[in-house]
Amino acid sequence: MQRITVKTTINDTDYSFDVEPRLLLVDLIRDKAGLTGTHAGCDTGNCGACTVLLNGLTVKSCQVLAPRARGAEIRTVEGLAQNGALHPVQEAFWECDALECGFCTPGMLMTTVAFLVENPHPSDEDIRRAYSGNLCRCTGYLNIIKAVKRAAETMES
Ligand code: FES
Ligand code: FES
Repeated sequence: MQRITVKTTINDTDYSFDVEPRLLLVDLIRDKAGLTGTHAGCDTGNCGACTVLLNGLTVKSCQVLAPRARGAEIRTVEGLAQNGALHPVQEAFWECDALECGFCTPGMLMTTVAFLVENPHPSDEDIRRAYSGNLCRCTGYLNIIKAVKRAAETMES
């Protein structure tokens, strides 16, 4: 089987991986880099549990081949906190009791980080639309909406 080298940066650390070109990005992140905060929930692009940032934009890493990571900057949930301090989005989810299970929350957090860069003053409707690709089958989204608004306020100030 053909193999290729993928040099990439994940959470500010440089990596070089020798992989099969058909490897999925989610498997590169979890199995090769050992960053298991990103989850594979459905492998069909529906649930959003595998959401990471690729050059600042959200991607569902179960739908992206690992070679796309070449020369890219990837951020996962492990790379949100800096110097021991939670990211404002993580703080807001904590304060608003918006943390759901360990499976869906990392993807929700990554979606929020990218969303607030794009839309720093979102309406409830904007937020609902932004999470249409992040599914939780067991609880609800009301506290998430509160948390996104709290994070938007904190990041503005
Ligand atoms: S595992 Fe990627 S969208 Fe569900
Ligand atoms: S899928 Fe995570 S709390 Fe529902």
